[in-house]
Amino acid sequence: MMREVVKRELWLASLVVIQGAAWALGGPAGGEEVGGTAAERGWRLLTGKAEYLPPDFDQQVFEALWEVWEEPLRERAARATAAERRQMAFERYGLCESPDRPGGVPLQYTNDGRGGWVINCLACHGGEVAGQVVPGLPNARLALQTLVEDVMAVKLRQGKPLAHLERGALLVPLGSTVGTTNAVMFGVLLMNYRDADLNVHVNRPPPAMLHHDHDAPPLWHYRKKRRLYIDGFAPRHHRALMQFLLIPRNGPEQFRRWEADFRDIEAWILSLKPPRWPWEVDASLAERGRDLFARHCAECHGSYEEPESYPERMVPIEEIGTDRTRYDALSPEARRVYLQSWFNEYGTLGGEAEPAGYVAPPLDGIWASAPYFHNGSVPTLYHVLYPEQRPVVWEQQGRAYDRQRVGLSVAEYEELPEDVASPAQRRRYFDTRRAGKSRAGHPFADGLSDEERRALLEYLKTL
Ligand code: HEC
Ligand code: HEC
Repeated sequence: MMREVVKRELWLASLVVIQGAAWALGGPAGGEEVGGTAAERGWRLLTGKAEYLPPDFDQQVFEALWEVWEEPLRERAARATAAERRQMAFERYGLCESPDRPGGVPLQYTNDGRGGWVINCLACHGGEVAGQVVPGLPNARLALQTLVEDVMAVKLRQGKPLAHLERGALLVPLGSTVGTTNAVMFGVLLMNYRDADLNVHVNRPPPAMLHHDHDAPPLWHYRKKRRLYIDGFAPRHHRALMQFLLIPRNGPEQFRRWEADFRDIEAWILSLKPPRWPWEVDASLAERGRDLFARHCAECHGSYEEPESYPERMVPIEEIGTDRTRYDALSPEARRVYLQSWFNEYGTLGGEAEPAGYVAPPLDGIWASAPYFHNGSVPTLYHVLYPEQRPVVWEQQGRAYDRQRVGLSVAEYEELPEDVASPAQRRRYFDTRRAGKSRAGHPFADGLSDEERRALLEYLKTL
């Protein structure tokens, strides 16, 4: 009985591993010479090598997804051309065209060369802003739970077996709002069944789980950091990037074999630059904002003027006051298990099993990475600066960008609208009253005048 339970947990683990990004199309095997710089090789591995994880579904399933959509969407899809339906599916699930292979599998998936789509890192770490596809940008539109549920319904109709993610979704929520996922808990679950050398032990009791949704950070911050994650507990290291491959199928040998790939993938991440604000900036207003930033913000977020600096400042959880679910969800024991493992060179790299709170992130390219805070609860920078005006419930307006308030263009509500019927629709509304989704905290602009906040907002566009 217990065994059964654990087996089910493991299944879920494996699917859940979606995290584990995968890549596609029979790319080169670990460590092979493929030419180019390390960063170029890393990009090719990330988007082209499919063997790290098994496929989630095939093209035939993808093309039939509209058949399980709710009305009136299904009706519209039925009348649309194949190309329009593809666009509608991209819209619904938060997918975008890959700059390397337009018309092929989207940026967020890798083609395994046999018709299979394998989820990759860019599912959460690649998206679109102001009409531009940006690898490394948090995907603010990813609707993973909805995609997986629809895939499951289509597979049942087509008589196809469920893959890892679908089975996992039966047991663990993948994400309850568009743009955020329960990724952190996937990691906790998967690590629970490994020892320090990454051998798999299926008979362990399941770990304590506190499910919550997290907004992925921009990958271009990586080069400024020495410690990863919002609580900064894990030292930066190429092996840390491999946690996403922790499905039981991948044993300790695979991790050693693929390590060289992930040195290259790390080189690609280190080469990333934030996108620049594409519109005009009021230079004199921004100039005033620069001084205000130096006085009120730089002690935690660093300086973006020459010489640049980034203090990687840890702020105690009570002082920052943003949602603390993420902080509580990762126990000191869970952090220790990771820190003592192969991923962290068996503890020799250091790390912090009991961090005091959250680390103030770099703000490079901050205009592009809305929504804000680690749980993605605040849709614009204006709302970061005006805590009392943060919406209780908000809904993204398609791909529209809000240039005035700098961030996502949203509709705001006091309550969830009553006509929201399907779960897929409900996930489009970010309800900040739900567990793990608080919009509170970060009161650091509170003493400033409206004028000063306008100047700060203008300056933030330039980072
Ligand atoms: C299902 C979504 C998802 C997928 C897929 C995913 N990540 Fe992440 N990633 C996250 C989230 C959420 C966080 C933030 C976790 C935290 O701070 O606790 C994160 C954090 C990170 C960080 C730390 C960044 C920082 O600034 O601290 C790196 C680096 C990273 N991911 C790389 C990758 C790589 C490489 C892959 C593919 C092998 C990948 N991720 C796949 C969701 C995802
Ligand atoms: C005492 C340290 C501290 C000060 C001072 C501070 N911040 Fe922060 N800031 C943080 C921390 C910690 C976070 C992360 C909170 C979270 O995600 O839960 C953060 C998050 C943010 C974010 C969201 C980042 C993201 O990627 O989602 C923005 C924007 C921001 N701060 C702007 C500012 C501005 C502008 C000022 C000056 C008015 C300022 N901060 C002052 C500590 C600070």
